[in-house]
Amino acid sequence: MSRYIERNENDRFNAARDPADPSPEVELPKPVLAGNISIEQALAERRSIRSYSNNELSLSNVAQLLWAAQGMTSDLFFRAAPSAGALYPLEVYLVAGNVSGLDVGVYRYVPSRHSMIRIFKGDRRDELCRASLSQSQIRDAAAVVVIAADYSRTTVKYGTRGIRYVHIEVGCAAENIYLQGVSLGIGTCAVGAFDDEEVASILNLPSNEDPLLILPIGYV
Ligand SMILES: Cc1cc2nc3c(=O)[nH]c(=O)nc-3n(C[C@H](O)[C@H](O)[C@H](O)COP(=O)(O)O)c2cc1C
Repeated sequence: MSRYIERNENDRFNAARDPADPSPEVELPKPVLAGNISIEQALAERRSIRSYSNNELSLSNVAQLLWAAQGMTSDLFFRAAPSAGALYPLEVYLVAGNVSGLDVGVYRYVPSRHSMIRIFKGDRRDELCRASLSQSQIRDAAAVVVIAADYSRTTVKYGTRGIRYVHIEVGCAAENIYLQGVSLGIGTCAVGAFDDEEVASILNLPSNEDPLLILPIGYV
């Protein structure tokens, strides 16, 4: 992968970290490239799931979902989901509640290192649920994935049409999470009904990022 992209990512992540809590990066288990079911079966079984078991999610399964959403799939810079002009405007956050070996808190996925950086500690699922018309699947999930975007990375090249491209990309990343989830026995549900400003504030998103989709995750 290009050193330029890696340096850019490092700058962004360091800026997002809480200086009072300079937590180490969480190295994630490597993605697995073989599954138990076919892509056709995953497509046939995919459903939006809104209730989950209380079981703790394994870190390796969480890592696999993050990789499916935005993981690197080449030595250059390409990722599991397509991106207009390979500009990669999406940022993936994990609101962790009940994940094995992981402190409760909000994390930001780092595709170039397949790792996460903790942004801050504390359980944000309740607040996130209230900011999403009190949809209980968010409060009840073991963890919640939030996909945000920096539109400017795409609009700098494509102008206002870039806004459409970013929205399409969120759909691609979300479908990857859905399908990977089916293969792992993890349910999710795309949640688009939420208050943008409240969600951005709960996650302490940088001002150049907008939250676009919420995906609660938990074992079925
Ligand atoms: C952009 C988008 C936004 C959605 N927002 C919500 C939502 O806020 N709450 C919810 O329960 N489901 C939401 N859904 C899930 C749909 O309700 C669901 O996909 C639809 O009922 C079809 O069911 P299926 O996904 O199981 O095939 C959303 C889906 C999409 C694609």
